[in-house]
Amino acid sequence: MHLPKSYYNHISFAGTIIAAISLFLIIVSFLFSLLFNAGSSYLGLFSYILLPAIMVFGLILIPIGMFINSRRARKSSETLEMKWMVIDFNDPRYRNAASIFIIGTVVLILLSAVGSYEAYHYTESVEFCGKVCHKVMQPEYVTYMNSSHAKVACVECHVGQGADWYVKSKLSGLYQVYAVLTNSYPTPIPTPISSLRPAKETCEECHWPQKFYTPRLNMEKHYLSDSLNTEWIIQLQMKTNSPHSSSNLAEGIHWHINPDVKIEYIAADEARESIPWVRYINLKTGDTTLYEDSWSPMDQEDIKTAVTRTMDCMDCHNRPSHNYQLPSEFVDLAISSGEVPKLPKIKYIAMEILKDPYPTTDTALMVINETIRQFYADNYPDSDPQLIDKAVTGITNGYLNNIFPEMGANWDVYPDHIGHLEFNGCFRCHNDTHESISGKRITKDCNACHTILAQGTNDNLETATINESLDFYHPVDIGTDWKDYLCIDCHRYLYP
Ligand code: HEC
Ligand code: HEC
Ligand code: HEC
Ligand code: HEC
Ligand code: HEC
Ligand code: HEC
Repeated sequence: MHLPKSYYNHISFAGTIIAAISLFLIIVSFLFSLLFNAGSSYLGLFSYILLPAIMVFGLILIPIGMFINSRRARKSSETLEMKWMVIDFNDPRYRNAASIFIIGTVVLILLSAVGSYEAYHYTESVEFCGKVCHKVMQPEYVTYMNSSHAKVACVECHVGQGADWYVKSKLSGLYQVYAVLTNSYPTPIPTPISSLRPAKETCEECHWPQKFYTPRLNMEKHYLSDSLNTEWIIQLQMKTNSPHSSSNLAEGIHWHINPDVKIEYIAADEARESIPWVRYINLKTGDTTLYEDSWSPMDQEDIKTAVTRTMDCMDCHNRPSHNYQLPSEFVDLAISSGEVPKLPKIKYIAMEILKDPYPTTDTALMVINETIRQFYADNYPDSDPQLIDKAVTGITNGYLNNIFPEMGANWDVYPDHIGHLEFNGCFRCHNDTHESISGKRITKDCNACHTILAQGTNDNLETATINESLDFYHPVDIGTDWKDYLCIDCHRYLYP
C-alpha cells in the first residue's frame, strides 16, 4: 500500500508504531478486564489514562513528521514558491491515505467515546480514589471500609453531582498526583477540608433533613482498667428528634439543621475545635442571638476579619466515613465482641501499650506482641496460651484499622465532633460558658441531648423507664469533677 511521500520519515514511522502498540495494549487490557473481570486499580490507570495518552502522542507525531518532511523536501528542491498540498484522488496514494484517515478517525472517535466514558467512571471509582495512591489514602480507605458508608462511593460525598464540581475535583486531583509523585504531600492530610462541598449537595441527596428519625438508642459497654476489666454499661437515648415522631423537627438534636434555623460560628483554630463566637438566627422571625465564650472571648478586631461558617451536617458528623477510634474505644469494642478475651488486666495492659506513639506499624505490632506475652508470662503464667494469641490478634487488628503511623493518621489528629468525652464536640458550644448579652447560655444540661436509660455494672445496673432519665453517675469516684470540668480534661489523654 502506498501513502503520500511525506509520510515516509522516521518521526511519522515512530508515531505509527507507538500508536499501534498502545492501541493493541489498550484492546488487550480491555479484553482482559472484560473476560476475567480483573479490574485492578493499576490496570485501569493504564488502560484508561496512560495508554490513551501515549496513543494520542503517537498519532500527533505522524502529521508532525509529515510536515517536517515536506518542508525539508520543498527547501532542498529550492522551489521557494508557497503551494498548497495537492490532493488528487486519481492517485492511489492519496486514496489510501484518505481512507486510512477517515476510518482511523471514526475508530478513534468511537474508542475515545468509550474510553472517556470509562475514564470518567474509573476516575470516579472507589478503587481510583482509595487504592491507586495506596500509601497516601490507606488510612481513609481502611476507615471507610469499616464505616456504615462503605458502599457509598467516595465521590458521592467528596464531589457530588454536576460538571462544575467534577472539573474542580479533577483539577485539585492533578495537583494531588503531582504531590504524590514528588513526595511533597502533607502527613497527616490536613482536616477539615476547607473546600468540601456543602452537605446540602451531598449528604442531603440521601438523608433528608426534613424527615428525621425516631430517637436513637445507644448501648455502650466500657471496660475499666482494673484487674477485673469491670464492665460498665451505659445506655443513652439520643434525642435526635422530638419525643413525638409526629412533631418532626420541632426540637431535638437535628434542630440545628431545621431549614428555619441558621447557626453561624467563628472558629479560633484551623481544626474548628475551639469556637468562641456563635450566632443563632431564626430565619422565620429574624430573631438573632449572639453567644460569646465568656471564658476566652474572641478579640473584636479578629471577629471583623474572621470567616464565619454556617453549621451543617459536617460540623457534627465530620467522621461519617473516616472514624479513627481511640485505643480505649476499639479495645472496648473488641472485648465486648469477644475478639479480645477477658484475660485479667487486659484493658490495662492494652492501654499501657497503645498510649505511646510508634514510628512505624511494624514497630507497633512487634511491641503489642512482645509486651502482652511478656506481661502474662510474668504476672499470670497459668493463662491459656490460645487466649493470649487471640488477644494479641484482636489488639493488632484494632491498631491496623485505626492508627496509621506512616501517614501520621490517628484519632488525635482527626477529632470526631459527635459527643464530648474525648473531644469537645458538642461542648465546643454547649459548655455553659457561651453567653448572650441577656445572660442566656448554650445549655450543658445532661438531659438536653440524651437521657440516660441505664448505667452501672452487670450486677448493679440502675435503669430508668423510657420517659425518665437517670442522674449521671461517674464510673470511678471523682467527686463532682465531671460537672466542674469538661470530660476531655481527663478523657482525651486518660492513660498518660
Ligand atoms: C459518607 C461520606 C464520605 C465518603 C463515602 C467518603 N468520605 Fe472522605 N471525608 C468525608 C468527610 C465528612 C470528611 C471530613 C471533612 C472535614 O472535616 O472537613 C472526609 C475527609 C477525607 C479526607 C481528608 C482527611 C480526613 O480524614 O479528614 C480524605 C483524604 C478523604 N476523605 C478521602 C476519601 C476517600 C479516598 C474515600 C473513598 C475510599 C472517601 N473519602 C469516602 C466524607 C466521606
Ligand atoms: C449515597 C447515599 C449516601 C450519602 C451521600 C450519605 N449517606 Fe449517610 N448513610 C447512607 C446509608 C444507606 C446509611 C445506612 C447505613 C447503615 O445503616 O448501615 C447511612 C447512614 C448514616 C449515618 C448513621 C450510621 C452511623 O454510622 O451512625 C449517619 C450519621 C450518616 N449516614 C451521615 C451522613 C453524612 C454526614 C453524609 C454526608 C457527608 C452522608 N451520610 C452521606 C447513605 C448515604
Ligand atoms: C448538632 C449536631 C448535628 C448536626 C448538625 C447533624 N446531626 Fe445527625 N446526629 C447527631 C447526633 C448527636 C446523632 C446521634 C448519633 C449517635 O447516637 O451516635 C445523629 C444521628 C444521625 C443519623 C442516624 C440516625 C439513626 O437513628 O441512626 C443520621 C442518618 C444523621 N444524623 C444524619 C444527619 C444529616 C444528613 C445531617 C445534615 C443534614 C445531620 N445529621 C446533622 C448530631 C447532628
Ligand atoms: C457551633 C455551636 C454548636 C455546636 C457545635 C453544637 N450546638 Fe447545639 N445548639 C447551639 C445553639 C446556638 C443552640 C440554641 C441555643 C438557643 O436556644 O438559643 C443549640 C441548641 C441545641 C439543642 C436544643 C434544641 C431545642 O430543642 O431547642 C440541642 C438538643 C442541641 N443543641 C444538641 C447538640 C448536640 C448533640 C451537639 C453535638 C453533636 C451540638 N448541639 C453541637 C450551638 C451548637
Ligand atoms: C449538647 C448535647 C449534649 C449534652 C449537653 C451532654 N451530652 Fe452526653 N453525649 C452527647 C452526644 C452527642 C454523645 C455521643 C453519643 C455517641 O457515642 O454517639 C454523648 C455521650 C455521652 C456519654 C457516653 C459516652 C460514651 O462514649 O459511651 C455519657 C456518659 C454522657 N454523654 C454523659 C453526659 C453528661 C454527664 C452530661 C452533662 C454534664 C452530658 N452528657 C451532656 C451529647 C450531649
Ligand atoms: C477528673 C478526671 C475525669 C473527668 C473530668 C471525667 N472523667 Fe470519666 N473517667 C475518669 C477515669 C480516671 C476513669 C477510669 C478509666 C479506667 O478505669 O480505665 C473514667 C471512666 C469513665 C467511663 C468508663 C470507662 C471509659 O474509659 O470510657 C465513662 C463512660 C466516663 N468516665 C464518662 C465521663 C463523662 C461523660 C465525663 C464528663 C461529663 C467524665 N467521664 C469526666 C476520669 C474523669
